[in-house]
Amino acid sequence: MKERDRAGSPMPDEAAYLDLDYWGSTNLFANACSSYGGRVEAKRAKLRVADLFTGAGGLSLGFAQEDFELAVAVESDPDAAATYRAVHEHLCSHGALPVKLHEQDICEVDFTQYLGRVEVVIGGPPCQPWSLGGLRRGHSDPRDGFPQFARALYEIAPRAFVLENVAGLAHGKTKPIFQLMVAVLAGELPLSELLGDQVRAGARLAYNVTWRVLNAADYGVPQNRQRLFVVGVDDGTSFSWPSPTHGPNRRHPYVPAGSVITPQGRGEPNPSIVTYATNPSTRPDPYHGQVYNGGGRPIDLPKPAPTLLASMGGNKTPWVDTLGIVPGYHAHLVSGGRPRSGQVPGARRITVAEAAAIQSFPDWVRFTGSRSSQYRQVGNAVPPDLARVVANALARSLPA
Ligand SMILES: C[S@@+](CC[C@H](N)C(=O)[O-])C[C@H]1O[C@@H](n2cnc3c(N)ncnc32)[C@H](O)[C@@H]1O
Repeated sequence: MKERDRAGSPMPDEAAYLDLDYWGSTNLFANACSSYGGRVEAKRAKLRVADLFTGAGGLSLGFAQEDFELAVAVESDPDAAATYRAVHEHLCSHGALPVKLHEQDICEVDFTQYLGRVEVVIGGPPCQPWSLGGLRRGHSDPRDGFPQFARALYEIAPRAFVLENVAGLAHGKTKPIFQLMVAVLAGELPLSELLGDQVRAGARLAYNVTWRVLNAADYGVPQNRQRLFVVGVDDGTSFSWPSPTHGPNRRHPYVPAGSVITPQGRGEPNPSIVTYATNPSTRPDPYHGQVYNGGGRPIDLPKPAPTLLASMGGNKTPWVDTLGIVPGYHAHLVSGGRPRSGQVPGARRITVAEAAAIQSFPDWVRFTGSRSSQYRQVGNAVPPDLARVVANALARSLPA
């Protein structure tokens, strides 16, 4: 980060850092060493991460697989926080250090306690597009995560950040919000543009900011999922985006949805039935259009799945055409055949476990809460395998 226009707080001394109870009995030395077959080898100390708006932890899981140590997490939803806690306990049983999980509204978290203790801040803040006017007046909508993300950066002063969001954020009616956010992150505008009088007048961030929309399928996830990533690194550091690895004319072909979904399925079945639409509207692709009830489309198993949404659960849940009805019925309609009625034979909606697999969650992850809450956590997540690719690129950008 370039020189910052802020009142510098003293760096905590090492003893204070080691005394933090959530770091448990471990310390920086333990973090910097690991045992392989009884031999202890020195490793570069991992970069500590704060994941804001963790959800179930898709983003965290990607970073945990690279050179990062999850140190701080913030999530207000009890179900998502419970899932995250279980995920992290599993990571701890495989050698990760404990994380400090703030299960509360991010507005209540004082991040100054992490100044100098966290090198990277990551997160997918919820954005409320209608709140721009309020933002500009410094009256941010409490549901808007951007000001809080910026506040965390200001208070923690990490070396880098990764902000993830919906692909459409940089366009249409949300474009002004996005531009404002990027300008604040880069220090072209003061923080007060987002936080009003919650920050000292003239206070600024100053990251080298770059952004890109990445499609998870291009990195080996069996799902077409476009997400916006904004990366900021401190002065003197440059970030290089990872090159796509999967797809036509690339090192690997796309990973098909059928690689993680079988006709018989796994996990608790979803009772929401699939019926023929009364007034079907076809598209050239049999797997598109509105041919069946609800927003959940049939999955063309030899290809990556369509984007999974947080609203899955009922009839917005994609489904598996176990009897191969879809191509024939599409041909029937296109040639002028009469719409059928009733339930589609052999159609079953994907389970939470299958949705998680499409999102590249490891199969040991257990989601907490009602079925719709679990689908929401899955649909909200950054695919861990995509997060891992971004984490890897960031680790290579940041000098030790
Ligand atoms: C898009 S999801 C994040 C998904 C996550 N990055 C992942 O990869 O799994 C946004 C999360 O922010 C949480 N959230 C929303 N407002 C919040 C607030 N004010 N404080 C803390 N968490 C909040 C939601 O409960 C939700 O789980």
